[in-house]
Amino acid sequence: MNLLLMGLPGAGKGTQAEKISEKYNIPHISTGDMFRSAIKEGTELGVKAKSFMDQGALVPDEVTIGIVKERLSKDDCKNGFLLDGFPRTIAQAEALQALLSELDQQIDHVLHVNVPEEKLVERLSGRRICPTCGKAYHVMYNPPEKEGICDKDGSALIQRDDDKPETVKNRLNINIEQSKPLLDFYDNKGYLVSVNGDQDIDKVFNDIQSIIEK
Ligand code: AP5
Ligand code: ZN
Repeated sequence: MNLLLMGLPGAGKGTQAEKISEKYNIPHISTGDMFRSAIKEGTELGVKAKSFMDQGALVPDEVTIGIVKERLSKDDCKNGFLLDGFPRTIAQAEALQALLSELDQQIDHVLHVNVPEEKLVERLSGRRICPTCGKAYHVMYNPPEKEGICDKDGSALIQRDDDKPETVKNRLNINIEQSKPLLDFYDNKGYLVSVNGDQDIDKVFNDIQSIIEK
């Protein structure tokens, strides 16, 4: 099963992706996570990506398409994958179509997690992530058992650089503009399904499961 997860920053893509990946046993491929790991490791890719991410801008298509191509060609994607945060431009969507036809694969569903724009700032500013395993929490909506500490590995939680107020607004605006043509692209192909992301995390996941298992 090949799934794409779309939605504005803070819509809950990463949160749902973790659950989907575990339940259906398919790799969770997040371009944002790949860039954050590269930044942490100080690679050339990381240095390049950071300059765009810090402004809330998109990393250039050729860089992003390159890392996704490499990742999707790995063996663990043969029985399905979940792409989170890719594609984000029409050029990326077209590159993905071409790659999938090369690999003799196709998309099963494009899940669009929909949350009213005015709720996203609050979700992003209250998010805390684990620097070790990447898990996202929220100070109010999804707190860890012990304040400021990851449930899984005990690391101290941090705020993502691009969740700071000066970046959030720009990031939202850029993504709002980019997402419309992309949603139309997949709607026209008949893949797009909208999911109400403005409910409890488990309810959103239930809705996603109903779509997948229909
Ligand atoms: P990326 O990491 O993909 O970030 P994003 O799209 O901005 O999405 P987020 O991770 O911010 O949000 P999310 O939807 O995953 O929400 P989450 O589940 O954490 O990309 C970062 C950057 O990398 C981009 O800005 C760009 O520079 C670059 N990049 C990445 N992909 C690219 C591409 N394809 N092309 C070019 N550049 C690219 O949830 C958010 C918060 O809400 C959390 O605190 C969570 O606990 C909470 N929450 C989740 N669900 C709920 C719920 N149902 N109710 C209440 N709270 C909830
Ligand atoms: Zn952790």
